[in-house]
Amino acid sequence: MWDDKGIRYLDMYGGHAVISIGHTHPHWVKRIEEQLHKIAFYSNSIKIPLQQQLAEKLGQVSGKDDYQLFLCNSGAEANENALKLASFHNGKKKVVAFSKSFHGRTSLAVAVTDNLKIVAPVNETNNVIFLPFNDEQALENCFAEQGNEISSVIIEAIQGVGGIIEATRTFLQKIRAICIEYNAVYIADSVQDGYGRSGQFFAHDFAGEDADIYTMAKGMGNGFPIGGILIAPHIKPKHGMLGTTFGGNHLACAAALAVLEVIEEDDLIENARQTGKYLLNKLSETEGIEKVRGRGLMIGFDVPEELKDLKKNLLYKQHVFTGEAKPNVIRLLPSLAITTQQADDFIDALQTEIAFLQKLLTAEEQS
Ligand SMILES: Cc1ncc(COP(=O)(O)O)c(C=O)c1O
Repeated sequence: MWDDKGIRYLDMYGGHAVISIGHTHPHWVKRIEEQLHKIAFYSNSIKIPLQQQLAEKLGQVSGKDDYQLFLCNSGAEANENALKLASFHNGKKKVVAFSKSFHGRTSLAVAVTDNLKIVAPVNETNNVIFLPFNDEQALENCFAEQGNEISSVIIEAIQGVGGIIEATRTFLQKIRAICIEYNAVYIADSVQDGYGRSGQFFAHDFAGEDADIYTMAKGMGNGFPIGGILIAPHIKPKHGMLGTTFGGNHLACAAALAVLEVIEEDDLIENARQTGKYLLNKLSETEGIEKVRGRGLMIGFDVPEELKDLKKNLLYKQHVFTGEAKPNVIRLLPSLAITTQQADDFIDALQTEIAFLQKLLTAEEQS
């Protein structure tokens, strides 16, 4: 990216993991532009063939080709609809969510988010049970006591806002098994970690199990607002059960199709896997930062107090955008098209700023 003065920036954050194929990718621009000249919008009161094309392409690229697709406009909406559909499906009311989860800011999505500061009194509900993340015993105990009332379990495979924390394989497998046992719906919130970012289409799939509903948004449109849910074949939504005015509009579908076409054509999931591994290795060898973690191009590390200006210096001195997770995590969510050269440029910038801050600290200590 370049600013208004022509200064070049390296974007290692992609606006919260949204930029999946790269800013203003030419194929994406062309697809949207061509669609604009045909028709930009009509509501779902007509059939929109682009939705069918998107569903087919998404099924093919994600490997979930027998799932149905419902389209909306954001991650919160995707989770809201998933939780609602789960409850319509099994007639139950309670939802299990986990510590440090983030699922969005609309009423039910925020109620299953573990951050009381963003839950308004009107969003408070007794229907949500929070359990510790990755605690299989707590999950078992909860289902043993209340399993007949639990409609769904919602989980990020790699918590993003929570600070890049991975669910273990066995934890996801346990969720899968227990949801089958108690007729609950396993909802894989893939809004941030999905769409190829982890090196697999869905980060949850590394556990080798299918979820009942996958929710998607961020990387789906490369910046054009679109969200969606993929619904397993045993769940049978009725016509009119879910609805939306803007969801699945022509422009959004054109953008989303362009993203999938580029992901496929340029083998970007494999690039996310390989370049992610490369970055993780380089970061692990970098002295000064702590607890390097993540998968694919969803990476985090802790920044110790003495390097607290690192993120700011990366931006203003090195012209590198990074993300954060409170209180002290730097989050990397670059485009899936990042090259090894760009990864090296980032590591050079990072190491330069770490060395600068460490030198400053030593000078302060000596004076
Ligand atoms: C895992 C997860 N779910 C849901 C959301 C909400 O998405 P949106 O901001 O598009 O509503 C986010 C946003 O950060 C997220 O990270």
